[in-house]
Amino acid sequence: MNQIVLTGFMGAGKSTVGKILAEKLRLPLIDIDTEIQSEHQISITEIFANLGEPVFRTIEHQTLTSALLKDAVISTGGGIILSNDNRSILESADFVVYLKTSPNTFLARLKGDTTRPLIQEKSREEIISLFESRTKLYEGVAHLILETDELTPEEIANQIKQDFEIRKEQA
Ligand code: S3P
Repeated sequence: MNQIVLTGFMGAGKSTVGKILAEKLRLPLIDIDTEIQSEHQISITEIFANLGEPVFRTIEHQTLTSALLKDAVISTGGGIILSNDNRSILESADFVVYLKTSPNTFLARLKGDTTRPLIQEKSREEIISLFESRTKLYEGVAHLILETDELTPEEIANQIKQDFEIRKEQA
């Protein structure tokens, strides 16, 4: 299959890179959070506030499961790796990429954000500790770990495309 899954913490650039990469590979882009919002006609903030995080995680799992049936670039939410079920279905994906960003980078990008429920009213230290609690999970499911701090989205997409093509040749 032709399937690339982008993971990483909030603010890692998954959606931006996903868009560029999907164009380069001529594949559809499935952005899990966008799919959830358009299918259920509700924002992520509203899902968390009105239905709670567990309901969001259930919907997120269903959306990932159906996305993984398709050839696509799949851009995931930062918490996708939290569930055992998600980590186990990600094992069957062709190519899982962890976009690794340092706290300075993602904190700068997330400054003033009002759309991500898990970081609202959180201190820098709390956000960093959320990131650190997830690092091993991102690394554990990734075929490729890409340090992105010094790269542009275009460079990141080119690097992923190149690695994906090499991997396909070797398969
Ligand atoms: C989340 C990340 C968000 C979104 C939701 C939960 C998380 O996606 O899925 O707010 O748990 O890290 P982004 O990583 O695209 O911000």
